[in-house]
Amino acid sequence: MKPRIAPPELQPATFTFKDTAKVADILSRYPADKKQSAVMPLLDLVMRQMAAEVKEGGGWIPEAAMEEIARICEMPRIKVFEVATFYSMYILAPIGKHHIQCCTTTPCWLRGSADIVKACEEATGCHVGETSQDKLFTISEVECLGACVNAPMVQINDEYYEDLTPERMKEIIAALKAGQDVPKGPQIKRHSSMSAAGPTTLIEEAKKAGAL
Ligand code: FES
Repeated sequence: MKPRIAPPELQPATFTFKDTAKVADILSRYPADKKQSAVMPLLDLVMRQMAAEVKEGGGWIPEAAMEEIARICEMPRIKVFEVATFYSMYILAPIGKHHIQCCTTTPCWLRGSADIVKACEEATGCHVGETSQDKLFTISEVECLGACVNAPMVQINDEYYEDLTPERMKEIIAALKAGQDVPKGPQIKRHSSMSAAGPTTLIEEAKKAGAL
């Protein structure tokens, strides 16, 4: 999918990292002559800083931030743009406070992801690729997020919500609207990715681990 990039009128003229200690920490993970390896965590740090700074909605990456990363990592800015525009996790335009990424790949689709997307659209009032009027939600459709065993699932910001039904999806959105906490992970009585029908093997080990 072609990345959505903020139009010039929304782009800030400059960008400065506030948490310089965090930037230094990220750079310290890589050899001094391989600074460009820091480009991905720095892009992520931009999104988190912007999320804390924007008046409404969530964090995104302005072009000025990509230029700042290019300067810090001593690399051509086009290389930063290439990374930022390749991965769907980097958001390059204003977005809702809660980014709902609906997995619609085969296992989730077979388990009803189309109904989950519909529930998201009905509960937020916006369609896939759009942001709700209150700037609280943006819905995206994504490929497999690696939690197929607990399909259907969505990712909202940093968290996974699994074993969803359309009704539960609407409840989660209502809770987020109300500023309430929502339990992450499986939304049924399943521990992690254990069998939904209950444990069938390694039962003693599960008990020892406190999972039963
Ligand atoms: S298919 Fe949805 S998480 Fe893998």
